[in-house]
Amino acid sequence: MKHQYLSSLFFGLSDVPKFFAGINQALASLKSTTGAFTGDNLFTYSRNLSFLTDDEFMSAYKAHVTTDVEKGIIWRIAVVAWAARNGMRLQGDFVECACYKGITARIVCDYVNFGADPDRNYYLYDLFEHDASMPHHNMPEHGKTLFDEVKGRFAHLPNVVVTQGRVPDSFAQAAPDRIAFMHLDLNNADAEIGALEVLFDRMVPGAIMVLDDYGWLGYRAQKLAEDPWLEKRGYRVLELPTGQGLLVK
Ligand SMILES: C[S@@+](CC[C@H](N)C(=O)[O-])C[C@H]1O[C@@H](n2cnc3c(N)ncnc32)[C@H](O)[C@@H]1O
Repeated sequence: MKHQYLSSLFFGLSDVPKFFAGINQALASLKSTTGAFTGDNLFTYSRNLSFLTDDEFMSAYKAHVTTDVEKGIIWRIAVVAWAARNGMRLQGDFVECACYKGITARIVCDYVNFGADPDRNYYLYDLFEHDASMPHHNMPEHGKTLFDEVKGRFAHLPNVVVTQGRVPDSFAQAAPDRIAFMHLDLNNADAEIGALEVLFDRMVPGAIMVLDDYGWLGYRAQKLAEDPWLEKRGYRVLELPTGQGLLVK
């Protein structure tokens, strides 16, 4: 069995051919490439890579990812899916700030069969657009039609609530009172602290928060803002090898 996952998604390279020659040399130097993973700035081997044998996860993942970036961040998506599944044991809604195209949230919905739990809502937030006056960085599919596209992606799930606008201001349009799972992925320290100010107290005991950018040096401003904010409330984030941060309320 080829139990491995090899992606060429790596950020921050100055000499691409040299880097991949090194990766290929390292792979060729292993006794076995079973359990090898490359991508998203990770190189591991001799690992179980449990998500690869989670058939529900893999079928949800394969149904919705299309781009090289989405394919390369499979381990991150598996972490989010796991945290969301934990949320299904708890009372409360799900939150993602921000959802961009809604790919991760769509995978989560399939994985946990979110449509079968109509009393629980999934709140998705994003600006969906970008212009030079906005502090967030431009992404390839930002534009006038993205909001409608994302609503279309969840049209069959009436308990998914998609809200356009700037977090945290957009919480005035729609926001949950009780949160069982939260994914923060705003690439922006002020916006994430703004989200925490409103939503953190609404997380129920046992709810997991995944902070997508927490471990990435390029987004270090977020960690530097979040650590003291959370420390004051008695919480500390676990930095994962995927670059995410994990917190259990
Ligand atoms: C990396 S993407 C999110 C990817 C998504 N979580 C996923 O897993 O597919 C970051 C998103 O944050 C959004 N964003 C940044 N600052 C924001 C803010 N203050 N309010 C709402 N959305 C914001 C951007 O529009 C962008 O789409």
